[in-house]
Amino acid sequence: MMKPYRAGIKGTGSILPGKKLTNSQLESIVETSDEWIIKRTGIRERHILEDGVPLAKIAAEASVKAINDAGLNPADIELIIASTCTPDYLTPSLSCMVQRETGAKNAAALDVNAACTGFIYALQTGRQFIENGTYNNVLIVSAEALSRVTDFNDRKTCVLFGDGAGAVVLSKVDDETGVEEVFLGAVGDDGNVLTIPLLYASDIDVQNRNQGKKQVIWMDGSEVFTFASRIMSEATKKVLDNAGTEMEQVKYIFPHQANMRILQNAAKRLGVSMDRIYSNLEYTGNISSASIPVCLDEASNKGLLKKGDKIIMVAFGGGLTYGSALLTWSKQH
Ligand code: UT7
Repeated sequence: MMKPYRAGIKGTGSILPGKKLTNSQLESIVETSDEWIIKRTGIRERHILEDGVPLAKIAAEASVKAINDAGLNPADIELIIASTCTPDYLTPSLSCMVQRETGAKNAAALDVNAACTGFIYALQTGRQFIENGTYNNVLIVSAEALSRVTDFNDRKTCVLFGDGAGAVVLSKVDDETGVEEVFLGAVGDDGNVLTIPLLYASDIDVQNRNQGKKQVIWMDGSEVFTFASRIMSEATKKVLDNAGTEMEQVKYIFPHQANMRILQNAAKRLGVSMDRIYSNLEYTGNISSASIPVCLDEASNKGLLKKGDKIIMVAFGGGLTYGSALLTWSKQH
């Protein structure tokens, strides 16, 4: 269906907190080893938000970078969509806090929670407002402080997660670039394999956790691994089919950065070489919904993306949720 307007990424920005947590530091916290973590996940270190610093701070810093990169002022932003599953507050929302910190006074603000798939859900939401002519500039910011919901006595999860923020400015574009196709899905029936309770915890949630630690991640890693390995390739194929585009036309895939073995499985199933699968998880770990926009910003800064390049973003996460997006890069560099 022809849309009246097209929405393209015109600016990117990201922040990884300065404090790092290396595999060897983890060796002194839980029974694990650098060798196990690298072999089973591909992760060497992750960034951790300093105590006392709100997540909104790095979310706003990443947002300002994206707004500057787009050549805009905060006042030009008409809608802020923040995706997070680790907000500072239930209210105010992260998007409202970003509005305050950035001075984007003319923007409406809403949050999206689709766990690690949050950026794709936010992109699909944001593009609608541009394509139907409601807004010209939408800020999408994905920020996570997973270290604050991690049980550092649980070696099955604490080696995986990190903190960070990534943002993009989605603007009306008057050429053939921009978002082409987005595919979203959810399997609520399997939501119990990855949980972070907040105001309620079932008996099973309590049983699964170390005593007294209610608001921490619990995950059945192998169930999530099996789901991820299947859904990453299926969602990628689906978005290509829906757009009538061939994999050969796509320059890079930007997958959610959960585990190098999941990326390798997806590459194998898709028949794509690993040099077309962008990855930074070696030094970020899994930063949930922030992982894709942080990768986009890095790739853009490295000059890997040129106007007209087709890319795919694909993610899965708690919920369970999944999603993929096919996009033609709109920025000159
Ligand atoms: O963003 C979405 C969120 N999550 C994911 O994408 C995670 C998906 N799952 C995974 O990445 C993997 O399942 C993990 C990395 C979590 C686990 O890797 P695995 O190869 O599936 O290991 P496993 O759970 O089958 O455990 C194998 C062994 C177990 O020991 P036993 O029972 O064989 O004696 C674990 O206790 O490895 C042990 N183990 C560890 N050993 C050292 C689990 N975690 C660790 C650890 N260090 N950190």
